Amino acid sequence: MFIRVAGRRGLIGFIFLLCIFVVGVTYPQIYMQSWVLKSPQQQHDSIGTVTGVYLGLSLLALCAFSAACTHFTLGVAPRISLSFHGSLANALLYAPLSFLATTDMGSITNRFSQDLAVIDQEIPLAFIGTILTLLQLLAQSVTLIIGSHLSGIAIPFLLILVYWIQSMYLPTSYQLRLLDLEAKAPIVSLFVRSIEGLATVRTFGWMDRTQKESKQHIIASQTPFYLLATVQIMLGLVLDLVTAALAVIIISVSVYTREPRIGLALFSIVGLGSSTKLLITQWTELETSFGAMRRIKDFSENTPREIASYRSLRPPRTWPDKGEVQFSDVSLSYSDSMPPVIQNLTLKIEPGWKVGICGRTGSGKSTLVASILGLVYIQKGTVIIDGMDISFLESDSLRSSVTVVPQNGVLLRASVRMNLALGSPEPPTDEKMIEVLTEYGLYNRFKEREGLDTLVVDDILSYGEQQIFFIVRALLQKTRLVLLDEPTSRLCCPEWLRGFDGALYRAPSRDPCTI
Ligand SMILES: Nc1ncnc2c1ncn2[C@@H]1O[C@H](COP(=O)(O)OP(=O)(O)OP(=O)(O)O)[C@@H](O)[C@H]1O
Ligand SMILES: [Mg+2]
Repeated sequence: MFIRVAGRRGLIGFIFLLCIFVVGVTYPQIYMQSWVLKSPQQQHDSIGTVTGVYLGLSLLALCAFSAACTHFTLGVAPRISLSFHGSLANALLYAPLSFLATTDMGSITNRFSQDLAVIDQEIPLAFIGTILTLLQLLAQSVTLIIGSHLSGIAIPFLLILVYWIQSMYLPTSYQLRLLDLEAKAPIVSLFVRSIEGLATVRTFGWMDRTQKESKQHIIASQTPFYLLATVQIMLGLVLDLVTAALAVIIISVSVYTREPRIGLALFSIVGLGSSTKLLITQWTELETSFGAMRRIKDFSENTPREIASYRSLRPPRTWPDKGEVQFSDVSLSYSDSMPPVIQNLTLKIEPGWKVGICGRTGSGKSTLVASILGLVYIQKGTVIIDGMDISFLESDSLRSSVTVVPQNGVLLRASVRMNLALGSPEPPTDEKMIEVLTEYGLYNRFKEREGLDTLVVDDILSYGEQQIFFIVRALLQKTRLVLLDEPTSRLCCPEWLRGFDGALYRAPSRDPCTI
């Protein structure tokens, strides 16, 4: 999966550049060792060549390393990040309402924060580190064998030992890292809930309780982190002991056999020890980062998609051309496993009717509105708008054909123009937007800033003004079917209600429509 996303050619180029770097760094050591063994006269004669080779190769290594890192961080890594972010966002955007209602927000936020951060920040470093130390390890093994042929026999034993240590360290560290990532989900979840319900928390004086709960989650989330740090220190100690043992063996062998290049061998063994330690930590880091990739892949593949294959019918551009809505024996629920919210509803709304649906709170008014938008599960019956069964219509086309003022609307952090044009197949002109905004007393809010280019941020409009903004947006759209879910719930003054009433009835003046 990693190779497919990163691109085979990009990875080969990166590894090739690192090979040049490692050769450029290692070869001068071997070259210098042979030079040291020459007679003083030969050394004197070849000093220029040695310096040239040394400097040239070092420069080549430096350039190759810079090129490899630049190529990976600016070319390969962004491709990996974009691909995973895209598949995660895609899965979430097309997830049905039932999935969003039943899935913990903390775990979804965690995918976007923790997992994507691991992919963005840790994979490039871990991958560069793993490949680099692997190549260095190979080069150091070669120099060790050149330096002390007999000590080379120790390498297979060293590899077996390292493999054994790694086979214990990797699963432990991997599981601890997963625990570390997952232990952060409750913190994110509580944070999101606290921000959403800040007013309630303050009103009921739950600040201490919330802080205490948050502290408990933070403490719990630190446990795997400390355990992981302990395991890493333990690994370092074990590998340092292995290196020390190897150094003792090499010195003993070399003293006994009087090998001339013992300096090179000792130099290599010290590097070999630290490279082995680094390889295991980097490799584990990489494996863990792959865990984040796997989790995102699982999420993308296992999240249900709202767009079922049968929902592919694209209605004509002029649909709905009359605004007739017919519910026939309809039962609605938020998922196929949940009990129905509305049962056996039969209702016919003729074109141009203005229908108000009343019911106690929780009786299913918003659910009825959501059903027309294809947001809830139709367990039984059919919903037909102007002769078309909405269950078979493509979701995007269905939603852009209907105008909605939702009960809990959301303003995008974008310009006023973009917020007003949202969902309109044919965006209204600037003049029209200014005209309607002025009529509803909202344009002054934006005029003193940057007009229609003003960025809509939280504090720019009050709750009630936001509702008026949604109504303005609805009035600017030219569809034959308008759905208003508690449109006056945030508005207080009777004058406003009268104005709104008028606007509703004036709306058909654009085109006759059903409300
Ligand atoms: N996202 C959801 N997932 C599961 N069940 C839900 C969801 N939203 C609402 N419900 C359930 O559906 C029922 C009807 O809710 P709905 O929001 O349609 O009521 P309503 O009539 O609009 O209420 P209100 O007047 O308070 O807006 C409620 O019992 C509620 O528990
Ligand atoms: Mg409602």
